[in-house]
Parts: sequence; structure tokens; C-alpha cells
Amino acid sequence: MSERLRIALTKGRLQEQSVALFERAGLDCTPIHHPGRRLIHALPDYPLDVVLAKGPDVITYVEHGVCDLGIVGKDTILEKGGSFYEVLDLGFGACRFALAVPEGSEFYSGYRTRTIASKYPAITQNFFRAKGMEVGVIKIEGSVELAPILGLADGIVDIVETGATLRANGLIPIETVANVSARLIVNTASMKLHKEQIQDFILRCQRELRKEV
Ligand code: PRP
Repeated sequence: MSERLRIALTKGRLQEQSVALFERAGLDCTPIHHPGRRLIHALPDYPLDVVLAKGPDVITYVEHGVCDLGIVGKDTILEKGGSFYEVLDLGFGACRFALAVPEGSEFYSGYRTRTIASKYPAITQNFFRAKGMEVGVIKIEGSVELAPILGLADGIVDIVETGATLRANGLIPIETVANVSARLIVNTASMKLHKEQIQDFILRCQRELRKEV
């Protein structure tokens, strides 16, 4: 293996779990544990440079081929789309997207066009389009649970992990929109150009994931 591969990791929780997986797979990730303000780290004993980025940017870097590989949530993939290979479900970062409404409200009754607030407008539109139901979608940047409380929306489409945030704000999940988890993605050209190196990396990850089952 001569050339170095470059992988973009989604900063934060997925980054921690990705690094834990790499370490179990035998990669020395010491530089990532002491990052300072650096955003790119060369692993000392494996030809891999690790870039830390926000989820949507992971996709952008992989699509443009400046990173060969990426680890990003399926939620971001569903929302942003793009052209790349999705090669592995890494299992971690698992949670679900749900449609949640204020407790006691009759979301599906009546003919009024419903308004949904979400950080993920494309996922929300696609979900209702598949049902043949027209809704208005309002993009919210965070704490989406506020939108129904403030009277801006009839419901929300958001990530539910423990369900605590919904409960604390008087909302109940009424439908699962999608189950999501972290995925390993690969640039389409890199897959051909660096086939052996990429396969070696995928196999190392796969071996560790199989041990977990
Ligand atoms: C996410 C999500 C929910 C909450 C769900 O928000 O948007 O608000 O976590 O977790 P729970 O089911 O365990 O309560 P995040 O913490 O990312 O903050 P944000 O809404 O401000 O983006």
C-alpha cells in the first residue's frame, strides 16, 4: 500500500465512535485524541489521513473526491443525497426519525393543510409525498420541539433517541419516518483507483463489526 487514503469523519459523537472502531481494528489513532485546533490528522501506522468535518460537508468532500471515504449519518445522507457508494452500515449512531404531534391532537383528521417543522425538510417532504399528502414544511435549525408549542406547526419530524425531549414538551411520536445510523461512504472514482487499499480498510471495519453481533 503506497498512497494514503483520506477519510472525513463527522465531528462529535460519530467521530468518537468511528475512532473507537478504528482502534479496535488495530489503527493507532493517537493524533485524533489530541487534536488541538487541527482538523486533519495523519495516522502513524496506517496510510490514512483523517479529516474532521460537519456531516453535510463529509458528503461534499467525498462527492468531490477530495476525501476517498467518509463516515456520516444516514439522516444526513437522506436529507442531502449525492453521488457516492454507501458501503457499510456501521451500526452506531442508531436512532429513528419520527413524526411527533402534541398529545391529544388529531393530526390526520380534517382537510386543513398541515404544517410540519423540521431540521430535515427534504426527508419530511419525501415522507408525506410518499403518502400522497400535501403539507407545508418549515425549516427550523434546532430545538424543533418548540415549533408546535409556539403554534407554528402541527407536528415535527425529528430524531428521537430516548424520547425524553418529546415527553418533556408534550409531544408524542405517532409514526416512524426512517431508522438511521452511521454509514461508511466511498467516492466512486476512489473505489476504482484505490480498490485494494479501500477494500483493506472496509474489511478491517467489517471484521470488528461482525465481532459485535
Ligand atoms: C436531538 C433531536 C431532539 C433530541 C432527541 O437534538 O433533534 O431534539 O436530540 O433526543 P431524545 O429523544 O434522547 O430526547 P439535539 O440534541 O441534536 O439538539 P438540537 O435540537 O438543538 O439540534
